[in-house]
Amino acid sequence: MAEKKKYRSSDWYNSKSHRRDTFIHRGWMRNQGHPNHLFDGRPVIGICNTWSELTPCNGHFREIAESVKKGVYEAGGFPLEFPVFSASESNLRPTAMLFRNLASMDVEEAIRGNPMDGVVLLMGCDKTTPSLLMGAASVDIPTIGVSGGPMLNGHHRGETIGSGTGVWQLDADLNAGKITEDDFVAAEISMSRSKGNCMTMGTASTMGSMVEALGMALPHNAAIPAVDARRYALAHMSGKRIVEMVKENLIMSKVVTKASFENAIKVNGAIGGSTNAVIHLAAVAGRLEIDLSLDDWETCGKDIPTLVNLQPSGKYLMEDFYYAGGVPAVIRQLLERNLLNKDALTVNGKTIEENNLNAECWNKDVIKDFSSPLVKEGGIKILKGNIAPDGAILKPSAASPELMQHKGKAVVFESVEEFHEKIDDPNLEVDENSILVLKNCGPKGYPGMAEVGNMRLPQKILKKGIRDMIRISDARMSGTAYGTVILHTSPEAAVKGPLAAVQNGDLIEVDVNSGRLHLNVSDEIIAERLKSYKPILPDIKGGYQKMYVDHVMQADKGADLDFLVGKRGSEVKRHSH
Ligand code: FES
Repeated sequence: MAEKKKYRSSDWYNSKSHRRDTFIHRGWMRNQGHPNHLFDGRPVIGICNTWSELTPCNGHFREIAESVKKGVYEAGGFPLEFPVFSASESNLRPTAMLFRNLASMDVEEAIRGNPMDGVVLLMGCDKTTPSLLMGAASVDIPTIGVSGGPMLNGHHRGETIGSGTGVWQLDADLNAGKITEDDFVAAEISMSRSKGNCMTMGTASTMGSMVEALGMALPHNAAIPAVDARRYALAHMSGKRIVEMVKENLIMSKVVTKASFENAIKVNGAIGGSTNAVIHLAAVAGRLEIDLSLDDWETCGKDIPTLVNLQPSGKYLMEDFYYAGGVPAVIRQLLERNLLNKDALTVNGKTIEENNLNAECWNKDVIKDFSSPLVKEGGIKILKGNIAPDGAILKPSAASPELMQHKGKAVVFESVEEFHEKIDDPNLEVDENSILVLKNCGPKGYPGMAEVGNMRLPQKILKKGIRDMIRISDARMSGTAYGTVILHTSPEAAVKGPLAAVQNGDLIEVDVNSGRLHLNVSDEIIAERLKSYKPILPDIKGGYQKMYVDHVMQADKGADLDFLVGKRGSEVKRHSH
């Protein structure tokens, strides 16, 4: 029999020149009961699983993997499921973001080091999506994404409540004395009443939508609820498709190009997506060696209205979004206005236009028309100025229109601990026109860039019925949060970025329309203050966290580790036995 070397896995399973190695690679696999014919040179498909009971949003992923396997077998492939680091947004401390890059390293090495010809990425909770995309991008074999899908809508005491967004609202009500502690606890299971990830347009659903907009998943990937039978049908179809992708050698970098990122930025604007998409897409682009900067968000995101009426920007939840037509119905509207790169390829071998041009919208209150959008200027606004020379971001659809142009005195917190200690101090000099400034919460400062940028307002302001103030920080914000919150100021305070120079009482000018973020202090004084500034640095004892703070890049570059940028390919050295 001629030696089969059609796919990369053949080097493990079909090499006649290394018989002993082949015996070992195949033989040990046989202990799982795989029959001989599965090693006949057919495509081997890895199913990269972020299942974990500690990542509740991905707790159903073993079931999703079973559906993927059915599709792989049906198409004549050989599926093999493998676990990778699962970064849980709701459990991991100090922040899941600290481990996104670690998880991506796990994914990259697991794909490269193992006999697989194509890979299916099972992603759901916030950081699990970018970490898998980043790791897979650096290897660049045929890759398809399958998201786990959102939870069903939360229902509590006659009200619909959304993941995350409901927590911030209930917390504000508890602080303002409107509800009791018991009411607060009772809302927990009413909010999270089924399997799946957060069902607001938070980071998980945003990244699921980005996967779809980038062309990395089949249509409707983002919105089908986790418990809906159609989620499992999509997983099955994705398993079938990845086998064909291997045969077509449709590798990730052929699908995801600069054009796909431009499409994703526009879709993010139209769905009112999370600010975290900015940082994650930058990191994925970096792995694919595609130049994507904050300026691309400004140019591509400009004039894209938010059409999707979902919390935290609007009213509805992901379940409603799916029934209304999901991401395809949004993409169709953008295509009809010639706003997308319509020829961008997707994983099913069709263009984004071919996939979505006939998509239907079934509820125009959930997915609004261009003529009557939810927010006229959606997307992400980039702000620059002497506080953030490398940029900062704001999500207008979650902000208060009356604060888009504002001048106010800074109330400064050097750390998140100081913020918690002082925010409710009756003597804190703060009013509703003040601007809250939080430092040392950036990639190196926290470390991991915590989601604390949407600082809660002082009780004395909440009691006046005020629900929003301008907040500025080098932190991130949960995708489910809202408010006039300026985030990701780069460079961060911990590396003596100029945010570090802001002091109590300084006047700050914000003009979102023109992208201006200005501290009314002279350059000389800023330089002087920075010279003597002592950043509050985290207490790192070594290990991965040491490597992270030594190598993490700033937010505008995606906060990846500097040595992980780029593709390293799928070649791997044979370890002869
Ligand atoms: Fe996992 Fe929100 S906590 S998606």
